[in-house]
Amino acid sequence: MHHFHYDQAGILCAEGVPLPDIAREVGTPVYVYAAATLRRHYRVFQDALDGLDSLIAYSLKANPNLSVLRLLADLGAGADVVSGGELDRALRAGIPGERIVFSGVGKTEGEIGEAVAADILQFNVESVAELEVINRVACEANRSAPIAFRVNPDVTAGGHEKIATGHRHTKFGVPIARSRELYARAREMPGIVVTGIDVHIGSQILDVAPFRTAFRAVAELAGDLRADGHDIRIIDVGGGIGVPYGDQPGLPLGTYADAVRDTLGMETRLVFEPGRLIVGNAGMLVSSVLYMKEDSERRFVILDAAMNDLLRPTLYGAHHQPFAVTKPGARASQHPCDLVGPVCESGDVFAEDALMPLLAPGDLVAFSTAGAYGAVMASEYNSRPLVPEVMVSGDRFGIIRRRPTREESLSLEVPFDAEPDTADCSP
Ligand code: LLP
Repeated sequence: MHHFHYDQAGILCAEGVPLPDIAREVGTPVYVYAAATLRRHYRVFQDALDGLDSLIAYSLKANPNLSVLRLLADLGAGADVVSGGELDRALRAGIPGERIVFSGVGKTEGEIGEAVAADILQFNVESVAELEVINRVACEANRSAPIAFRVNPDVTAGGHEKIATGHRHTKFGVPIARSRELYARAREMPGIVVTGIDVHIGSQILDVAPFRTAFRAVAELAGDLRADGHDIRIIDVGGGIGVPYGDQPGLPLGTYADAVRDTLGMETRLVFEPGRLIVGNAGMLVSSVLYMKEDSERRFVILDAAMNDLLRPTLYGAHHQPFAVTKPGARASQHPCDLVGPVCESGDVFAEDALMPLLAPGDLVAFSTAGAYGAVMASEYNSRPLVPEVMVSGDRFGIIRRRPTREESLSLEVPFDAEPDTADCSP
């Protein structure tokens, strides 16, 4: 459930704020998040996990805006981070180190040092080479770093091949069959303390079966490792819960939680790393129609939002349901059209043959389920400014990331004079 709805006048609102009010003040394109939806999703997940000893470590990569993080921190969320930048954001938002896990295949020495200093809950380690660096950095700081190996259970799951991470051909994790041997090596290292097991099999997973398979394998491994004398206190089950996009239903949270209870039981402390589940349906991307362009075959609606603002349709063929911000009357006819952006690539398409009311320049179109992997994956491609973000709460809204000025966008560039042209035209 989310908090975007049409009011009685047929205007699409975020909570109590009509989207045209935001478009007028901030301009378009703009991302709009509903604080009530963020809170609701967090609480609904928390309720589903009732009875489990759980930590919800929100996966920052889905949406790391500080205002989003502060709101979740106030609810008691932890964080799953994958870089020094994300660690810094989590700490700035008030999430204490003891609620932070550090994932990712390529942590640098510097980032590991920052995480050791922040006394994080657990490093989710992806290779022996990385483990050795963590050990060295921790020893140099006279500390011991808590670790879990991210195990690869060789399970195929996920909404798209580019986000399926649990099968053995990916770069992720260590083969589960080899992990006992690796845990034994970790135990010998003076800067390492083994605390848990980690698994993450992919994203936008709508079927519970691969979760069950992976969790069962992890439960078995936990038994083996305990028999080997390891103190496995934490099982981190990763993220990946699929959410509704358009008419497609999400993975029922009760079903997911039952899979966790059935396989991993109630005793061990469990860490969950949801990203999309918390923020996906809490955000919409609002854009304006610039032009209509029709020929005998197609009707294009050219928007001021583009693939640089919301990359998912171009990158994964993802569907973000478009809505006319001003609802047409019940009897208005629907016209199939292609919703496209201004970027100079034919892949800059949000939706093909979308059924929309007759649109005109200046009308607003909003795309749903854009709160996760939306703004955070935006770029300045085509020298378009980074898209701003707004948060709504009740009948108020605030700009939580403004659109940069041209000067700001250019400010990192430093002129460099190449050698004078010698006009030598020889090949
Ligand atoms: N934990 C780890 C270790 C991850 O790699 C991810 C996502 C998550 C948690 C959070 O997964 P979620 O609950 O959000 O599914 N850009 C893609 C999604 C990439 C996900 C990468 N890892 C998209 O737009 O669909």
